[in-house]
Amino acid sequence: MDTEKRILSIAIDGPSGAGKSTLARAAAKELNLLYVDTGAIYRTVALHTLRRGVEPRDAAVEALLPEIGITMEYDPGGLQRMFLNGEDVTTLIRTQEVSMAASAVSAHPAVRAFLLEMQRDLAKRRSVIMDGRDIGTVVLPGADVKIFLTAGSEARARRRWLELQQRGTSKDFEQVLRETRERDANDMNRAAAPLRPAEDAIMLDTTEINFEESLERILAIIRGRTGL
Ligand code: DC
Repeated sequence: MDTEKRILSIAIDGPSGAGKSTLARAAAKELNLLYVDTGAIYRTVALHTLRRGVEPRDAAVEALLPEIGITMEYDPGGLQRMFLNGEDVTTLIRTQEVSMAASAVSAHPAVRAFLLEMQRDLAKRRSVIMDGRDIGTVVLPGADVKIFLTAGSEARARRRWLELQQRGTSKDFEQVLRETRERDANDMNRAAAPLRPAEDAIMLDTTEINFEESLERILAIIRGRTGL
């Protein structure tokens, strides 16, 4: 089989803090695929919602969608830049406030429908590793490889807490843990495309393994299934 000319899609889903984005980015670099961070797209919608003073859980979010123009660009190093109506919001969408708001806006079916084609289009043009919550179940149900990354909530909260500290926006660990659990509950219990593994997803629990080992396992899974 000529795998070189095929457009491949790899779906990586899982709860926040399981290490999806760092692992997916590193795997994409190693395999020369485009890394697509779909959480960043929901975050961009969330930022606009907050700026307009609309409560992210409120159905009024739907009325804001026609105002939202989202574009993405990729730096040569693979960094995904996000633009909201032309403004580069790549850094602005990384706050904890936007994380919580993204989880809330992503529960609206209209928001999910608004973003679906954009995500699928990206995967039509190029081989991608796409991370999110519903990539293997809804966005790319025909993906060549589906991986569901998990880790215990304490381990995930600790990683998020360290990341916030490194960005200079330190927060109380207990609060980060509470917010991690709140986001899990939102993402898993919503009616529209809830976070859950696809039936054919390979499960990988990273609670007890470090970054290097997790990456090795992911690369082995992808290589084993695609011949890359
Ligand atoms: O991956 P992240 O933490 O940047 O995602 C932010 C929120 O966006 C997350 O709490 C749920 C939502 N999301 C989603 O519903 N579906 C996706 N494919 C990606 C993110």
